[in-house]
This record gives sequence, C-alpha cells and structure tokens, in this order.
Amino acid sequence: MRSHLLNDTTAERYRSSVTEGIERVAAKLATTDRPFTGVTVDALAPRIDAIDLDRPLHDTAAVLDELEDVYLRDAIYFHHPRYLAHLNCPVVIPAVLGEAVLSAVNSSLDTWDQSAGGTLIERKLIDWTTARIGLGPAADGVFTSGGTQSNLQALLLAREEAKTDTLAKLRIFASEVSHFSVKKSAKLLGLSPDSVVSVPVDQDKRMQTLALAHELERCKKAGLVPMAVVATAGTTDFGSIDPLPEIAELCEQYNTWMHVDAAYGCGLLASLKYRDRIDGIERADSVTVDYHKSFFQPVSSSAVLVRDAATLRHATYHAEYLNPRRMVQERIPNQVDKSLQTTRRFDALKLWMTLRTMGADGIGQLFDEVCDLAAEGWQLLAADPRFDVVVQPTLSTLVFRYIPAAVTDPAEIDRANLYARKALFASGDAVVAGTKVDGRHYLKFTLLNPETTAADMAAVLDLIAGHAEQYLGETVVRAS
Ligand SMILES: Cc1ncc(COP(=O)(O)O)c(C=O)c1O
Repeated sequence: MRSHLLNDTTAERYRSSVTEGIERVAAKLATTDRPFTGVTVDALAPRIDAIDLDRPLHDTAAVLDELEDVYLRDAIYFHHPRYLAHLNCPVVIPAVLGEAVLSAVNSSLDTWDQSAGGTLIERKLIDWTTARIGLGPAADGVFTSGGTQSNLQALLLAREEAKTDTLAKLRIFASEVSHFSVKKSAKLLGLSPDSVVSVPVDQDKRMQTLALAHELERCKKAGLVPMAVVATAGTTDFGSIDPLPEIAELCEQYNTWMHVDAAYGCGLLASLKYRDRIDGIERADSVTVDYHKSFFQPVSSSAVLVRDAATLRHATYHAEYLNPRRMVQERIPNQVDKSLQTTRRFDALKLWMTLRTMGADGIGQLFDEVCDLAAEGWQLLAADPRFDVVVQPTLSTLVFRYIPAAVTDPAEIDRANLYARKALFASGDAVVAGTKVDGRHYLKFTLLNPETTAADMAAVLDLIAGHAEQYLGETVVRAS
C-alpha cells in the first residue's frame, strides 16, 4: 500500500497516474458536444449504489473506467458554450495547473510552518486585490471557501464592531434581491429573526437609497442599532449593482459598517472597459470577492477584504500547538489568525498562476467579453416578441420569460416556462437557470463563457420556445 503514498520513491507513479487522469479529462473535454447528457437521478443512482467501497479495484485504469461510468460521462460541463445557468464559470488552464500543484504539495495555509511561501503568495494576492479595490494602506483580508463564508466573516466583524451588547438590537440592511447568505449569516451570528431588513429595489433591481435612508432612520428612532448595510455589486439573478457611492454616504451618516458583496461583480476589478460600474466600492469596510465566479477560477477561490486589518482580530484565537501568542511578537505570519477556518487550502495559488500567466488584463478582457455578450443577448430578447426580458444587464445575466401569443393566463405561462426549462435540461442540449420575478416564473442566462455566441443564445431561445409550445399544445389536446 505504501506505493500509493506520494513521496520521493513514487514520483514516477504519480506522474503516470495523474497523466492518465488528465488524458481522460482532456479527451472528454474535446469530445463533449452538449453541456449535459440529461441523465436522471433514477438512472444514475443505481450505478453508484452498486459500487462496493470495501472492494477496491487497485488499478488506476480500472478506477478511471468506473469513474467514466458514474461521473465523467454525465457531469455538467461548464466549458460548453450552451451551459448558461448558474454563476459557475469555465476555468482557465493556468488555474487548473495551480490546482494540480497545490493538491500535490498540499500546503495548509493556516500557519507559516505548514506553508512558508504559500502564506506570502496569499498575502501578496490579498494586497493586490485590496489595491484594485482601493481600500487604502491599512487593508487586509484572507482567502475563504466562497462568497457565503466571506459574507459570514464580514458580518461577524461588523457585529463585533457594532456599539451594543444586545444582539437583539442589531439590524442589517440588504436589498430584497441580495444573496441568502446574508440571512444565513445573521442566524449563525445569533441575531434576531427579524434582524435583516429587506430594502426594496428600483426597476433596475438596484437598492433604493431613499428607502434605505428611511429604514436607517426608523431603526435609529426605534432605539435599534444599524450594524451593517450589505450593498450587492452584482446580484445573483440580475447582475445589478447597488448605488455604492450613495450607500457609502448613508453608512457614514449613520456610522454603519458598509459591506459590499462583490462575489459576482468582482470581475470588474480587472475590467478594461467597465471598472467604473463599481465605483464607490473603495469606500467599503469589507468586500466579498469570488474569484471562482468572474475570474475564471476553479471552485473554491474567494476572499474577504477589509479596510482596517485590525478588525480581523475578531476572528483571532490562539492555541499553543498551532499559533501561540508569542508568534505575533516574533512576526511569524500565521494566516489562521485572520480566518474562520483552520486547515485551509492554498486556493490562492490558482489566482497566482493565472495572473503570472495571463495577467489581470487577460481576465478582465474575458469578463468584458461576457458583459458584451449579455448586451447582445438583451438586444436579441428585446427584439423578439416571443419573450419578455426584465432588466438591461450591467454584468452578464439575462432574465426573461417566454410569452406565447395565444395565452394570457399568467399561471399557464409559468407552467410553460417551467416545463421548457426542465425539458431543455432533460435533453442536455443546453442548461439554463430559473428564478421568480414578482411572483412569476422566469428563465435566466448567466453568461460566463466568452466562447458562447449570439448564435448560441438565439438557438437556445428557439429550443425554449419549442419546448414551451409543445407543452401548451399538449395542454390544449388534454383539455379537448
Ligand atoms: C451575490 C452573491 N453573494 C454570495 C454568493 C455565495 O457565494 P458562494 O456560492 O461562493 O458561497 C453568491 C453565489 O451565487 C452570490 O451570487
């Protein structure tokens, strides 16, 4: 069994095993003609159930053959231009190379004595990101597992900085289309069930700052404490960006922590054309960025950044075995002092390899391309009488709904759109997402693949219309 341990004696086995795996994936990527096979849970589950984990195959080729059957054949492939659903991007090769290196070396970024150079690389990337945001000389941050954890940590710091001993008094203000991790964080932080105040959005799905001002004032008058305003720079559904400068003004006026959830919109930090769309982000107290959404990085790669490094102390605990207090005096950089995690992947390496190979402009150019593609998609949809499209895109999502000429019942239109999404998924020809707008079912393209073309979008819209028409046709037959 020792032959499976990666060490000085097994370097050749490592090379051949990993190469064999890479060959399989490369062949798969080259021949995948649809984003999904349409496999059902009922078809796949018995294949996985049938595998006896206590009877290993011992042979890499046999394990890879089996993996083909239970995973690779039917996986969802984000690199395919007709994968248009969630905020999960195709990945760049330098980052995948970084992933291979980091798992083989297996640094853990909690302490210097488990990472050495890894710690300094992560720190440099944090500094690079805070400089891009413009957070100032005292800024700092740390890599996290994703936007959910970044938002949680930011709100933990905000809670600790708030001037009250009574958790029940704390209020967080976030738009009605902010990410659900804000509410989840409030619960984890022990705040009251009504602690997250939902602020209405305008027709472009941006937080209404007049409503925010009103709610902040109401909070103050009621003797409550405004703990944080969460401004979203790139909402999950619409890609809308809240008015950051106005929100910053209000946060200053009410002495409230400003958190910017730029999990999605952070791609604009590298943009060559649209950086100004997140102007005002530099006034935040904390920022969430998900490199695994708009920097073309593999999951996971995220960070939470703060204006004032000292606020990270709220996540600091010391253990004799790991990061004793004396190490701070000795100036030993232990990243665990800033993180909610202990053992932590060296995800930063992927971004490092990306920036060193492609440069930030390379990433920015790709993100600009998907924003431009969304603008084209908007024109397609706006000119097509078969569809109703909701908001002109600021980033790269389009929310729309098929509206059949002959049907006026909104519930029937809902059912036709739900059916079209399911039928499309089952066919594997394309994958799109869905959401609700004003209580009605809509469909969504999240465009993160520069390889997607206007022709792809037009073809997928035709497929959607075809499935919806089929549903409506069958409904008429059933009724008659
Ligand atoms: C605006 C926003 N914030 C936070 C998150 C959560 O990020 P993650 O899925 O990386 O935890 C998402 C995910 O889609 C998001 O869109």
